[in-house]
Formats: sequence, C-alpha cells, structure tokens
Amino acid sequence: RERVTGSRARALERVGVDGAGAIGGGILEGVAKAGVPVVVRVISASAVYCGRARVEASLGNAFERGKLQTAARDAAVERITWTTDLGDLAGCGLVIEAAVENLDLKRTIFAELDVVVGADTILATNTSSIPVVDIAMASARPEQVIGVHFFNPAPVMKLVEVIATERSSDEVVATASTFVADVLGKRVVPSPDRAGFVVNALLVPYLCQAIAMFDRGHASAGDIDDAMVMGAGHPMGPLALADLIGLDVCLSAAESLHEEYADAFYAPPALLRRMVAAGHLGRKSGRGFHTY
Ligand code: 3HC
Repeated sequence: RERVTGSRARALERVGVDGAGAIGGGILEGVAKAGVPVVVRVISASAVYCGRARVEASLGNAFERGKLQTAARDAAVERITWTTDLGDLAGCGLVIEAAVENLDLKRTIFAELDVVVGADTILATNTSSIPVVDIAMASARPEQVIGVHFFNPAPVMKLVEVIATERSSDEVVATASTFVADVLGKRVVPSPDRAGFVVNALLVPYLCQAIAMFDRGHASAGDIDDAMVMGAGHPMGPLALADLIGLDVCLSAAESLHEEYADAFYAPPALLRRMVAAGHLGRKSGRGFHTY
C-alpha cells in the first residue's frame, strides 16, 4: 500500500499537511495509519504540542478500543514529523492545506508553498466553502491545485470530495483521487468547484433551517435533535451536528452558498451570526446550541 497505482496516477511516498486542527489532525492521522510518512506544519511550538497531544490521544483511543495494535500505533506516531517551518514540506508529493477558512490566509500559504515544494508536488486545499479556483490562482501552478474535502470526524467519515477546478490537470486529479481511495480507503466523490460542493450544498441549508426553526421557538434544541435522530434515523441531530462542525465553519459555508447562488434561501440565519459574534462556536468553544 506504500505505492499508489491507477491510470495516470503517480505514487505518493510522502504527504504534507498544513494545519493540525480538528480536520487537519484527522487527515494526518489517517495518512500515518495508512503507512505513509507525513510532515505536519503548524504555526507555533505550542501548536505542535497541542496537535501532537490530540493526534496521539486519538491513536491511543483506537489502541484502547482494540482497533490498533501497539506496533501499528507506535509506527503511526513514528511516521509523523512535526514542524513549524513550511520549508520542511519540500519533499512531499502532495501537500494538503487544512488552515482556517480565510481566503487571504489560504492564498498566502499557497503562494509560499510554491516556493518551497518540488515541481511535481500536488497542492490541495481542504476548504469547505471557498471556491478552490480562488485559492489555486494564488499559485504559479494552478494546474497542480485541487480540493480534497474531508468530513468531521475525519478518522471515521468515509467520504472525501475531490474537486477539480477549471485549471486542474487530469493527472493531478487522478493521482490525488487514487491516493485517497486506495491508500486512505475513502470513498471519493468527484465534485464540481461550486459552493458547498455536493455535501455542504445539501447539508448546510438543512442545518440553517434547523437553526431558524429553533430561533422561532418552533421546538427546543434537544427536541429538534431528538426528532431527527429518532424520527429520521440521522446519527445526530442538526443542532448537535452544527456544534460538531463549528458554528463559524457553518456560517462561512452558508455565506459562500448565499454568495454563489444569490438566493435568500441560502442566507445564514441571524441567530447563527449572533452566536459566532458572541464566540459561541459549538464544541470547540464549549458552547453552541448545547454546552460541552
Ligand atoms: N475521532 C476519531 N474517532 C471518533 C471520533 C473522533 N472525533 N468521534 C467518534 N469516533 C469513533 C468512536 O471512537 C467510535 O469508534 P468505534 O466504533 O471503533 O468504537 C465510532 O466513531 C462511533 O462513535 P461513538 O460510538 O462515540 O458515537 P456515535 O455512534 O454517535 O458516532 C459520530 C459519532 C461518528 C460523530 C456520529 O454521530 C456521526 O456520524 N455523526 C454525523 C457526523 C457528520 O455528519 N459529519 C459530517 C459533518 S459535515 C463536514 O464535516 C463538512 C464540513 O465542511 C462542514
């Protein structure tokens, strides 16, 4: 499984991840568990400390649940190199950017990556809502830029949307898709470079409807969530899911859909804006529609 096969696909023997938050940490854990060395760039020594603690705790949980043998857990930890220097991503065949949802920041990262990575390196963004082409055009090699959209919690969720822009080369799309499917073992859904891709275009309006319903006093947060879990068979209710995703991420995805389709149906509910402004971001801040 070290070498990737597939028509027009190249082997990727080292992968870089930029960012080790909830999604970045899940992605790098999956790469390391799949047997591929991974270099992780974060912004500070304290981010190294937090990121490493989170990933090693997650690998430790898998070990405790009997999902990972001691040797496999230790080998996965060994495959991860932590750094604060973007230059350490130089030897990676694929770099996945998993920074916060901020276009200027992502464009800066892609412009900086251009200078340090090899000529063949594929540059991927895990953006959930920014048009991939807007990020790609910050790079001098937009044909080598694609989107790879993982879902939270990344170690568990089976899907990755692979997004080709108007400029992405077929070989780059094939290489990244083959890696995600054959090495990481995920189901790849090729998605258009349109706001929300496939999943968020359906999911985010649903979450926003649930937030608006709660805001109107239609039902309590607990009742809305229980209704969808017990009445519709969802693994979690929409308000609990919004809290898991992060209310700031939900807001930015809703804004992106609203901007693309210019339709009031996609407008983020006022309560979502107010909660984000108040710092109530869901699980990661300890408070959202529920408390944690
Ligand atoms: N990291 C690693 N593993 C985790 C985890 C995490 N953060 N959270 C749960 N798991 C594992 C558990 O260890 C357990 O593993 P096991 O079966 O091997 O023991 C398994 O997942 C099930 O977990 P639990 O038994 O604790 O709880 P649930 O059965 O309720 O599952 C859940 C939790 C997987 C989060 C489930 O509720 C679920 O699928 N929820 C929906 C999540 C979803 O829709 N995500 C997509 C959001 S959209 C998105 O991310 C896109 C972005 O752009 C907005």
